[in-house]
Amino acid sequence: MSDKPWDGRFAQKTDPSVERFTASIGFDRRLFSYDIKGSIAHCRMLARQSIISENEASQIIDGLEKIAEDMEQGRFQLDESLEDVHMNIEARLVEQIGPVARKLHTARSRNDQVALDVRMYLRDAVTHILHQLTGLRRSLVAFADQHLDVIMPGYTHLQRAQPVLFSHHMMAYYEMLTRDRQRFNGVLTRTNVMPLGSAALAGTTHPVDSAYTAELLGFEAVSANSMDAVASRDFILEFLAAAAICMVHLSRFSEDLVLWSSREFGFVVLPDAFSTGSSIMPQKKNPDVCELVRAKTGRVFGSLVALLTVMKGLPMAYNRDLQEDKEPLFDAVDTLQGCLEIYEALIPKLQVNRTAMAGAASRGYLNATEVADYLVTKGAAFRDAHHCAGRVVRYALDQEKELNDLTLDEFSQFSPLFEADIFNILTPEQMINRRTSSGGTATRNVAQAIETARQVLAQEVSGAGS
Ligand code: ARG
Repeated sequence: MSDKPWDGRFAQKTDPSVERFTASIGFDRRLFSYDIKGSIAHCRMLARQSIISENEASQIIDGLEKIAEDMEQGRFQLDESLEDVHMNIEARLVEQIGPVARKLHTARSRNDQVALDVRMYLRDAVTHILHQLTGLRRSLVAFADQHLDVIMPGYTHLQRAQPVLFSHHMMAYYEMLTRDRQRFNGVLTRTNVMPLGSAALAGTTHPVDSAYTAELLGFEAVSANSMDAVASRDFILEFLAAAAICMVHLSRFSEDLVLWSSREFGFVVLPDAFSTGSSIMPQKKNPDVCELVRAKTGRVFGSLVALLTVMKGLPMAYNRDLQEDKEPLFDAVDTLQGCLEIYEALIPKLQVNRTAMAGAASRGYLNATEVADYLVTKGAAFRDAHHCAGRVVRYALDQEKELNDLTLDEFSQFSPLFEADIFNILTPEQMINRRTSSGGTATRNVAQAIETARQVLAQEVSGAGS
């Protein structure tokens, strides 16, 4: 058992079971490099403000840099009895440079220190996710562009509804993921706030310059309220909410791929390299990647609910409960980043079965709405037109024909309004290309949407887009 920085007022040593129970080093070791960077900046600020001397600061900074190097070289074993990453680094610093190390924690508490570290960690994690969302959307747009002539049935209630372009379906996911990216940008803004100087909860009496620390660490703002700075985790909650929503989108995409790759649909073939087999049924090729993305969505929801629940009853300001913010956060970051990575790689390798899709779009009376709308343009009231079209469908069903296989005579049995031009609107191509309303599936709309997306993505890549 080691001495604790706070053991001055304690008559007993910490029980080993309590040490194990309260330790966060098992997971907050992930904050290691941020803790070092944060401490170096804090130390520079202390010296600049003459709170410690330049000489003391340079000893401390050299020591911290040496620790970072030791860690990289595998020469630094973290010690569980030292509770967390912050105390591990400080203890090592004392070991290396002696008592001057004890000055580093001047004007700082672990409460503002841990808030700083987590903000720095999340800033990097979100920045990576923003890049990944650009990459994944680029994959989707390229894929949509390559398949602009592929027609598929669009569904409602999982029943064939109306034909759409396959690319239109892909671009729907592009839109969802674009909004996800906007959400993560918002998360980044609210994460990029520097809390040091808040100390335990009330601020510090030392003449710190938090703006300088923020500048050294590349933060855009300094926290406005010390209690808020140490007690709030809504930047993490917001991240988890954005991650959960993004996972919903990936999960729905997964479900589409699971369905489409089934024998029943046969719309897509998943690449062998991204599928797995069965240990008993030799014929099987399973969409495990998609299934796992769908399932991992649940983990991310779990993280969000876990942290919401941790936060909801906490009195101000810092409580040890807040240590429980890290595992859900780290798990959600790993999960989301993993899912984004695998889909960016998988999408270009999907094989589209255009014949199966087009076949499904041309059977099942997906053009019944067209018949009703046609009668409306010829002067019928929509209710009457709908009823009449329904009767035509029933007749065609009895005849085992599709609507475009009926003759004009057959149509005319149901209404005198039918003319030869009824045959200009009944094929899937005609249906698609007449849907020119904004955001509709007409080829020229979708081509335009792809072009706009390309411009947006180019700006994101050049750093101009947010
Ligand atoms: N490991 C702690 C956490 O993650 C660090 C802060 C400890 N502060 C304290 N007052 N005990 O929140």
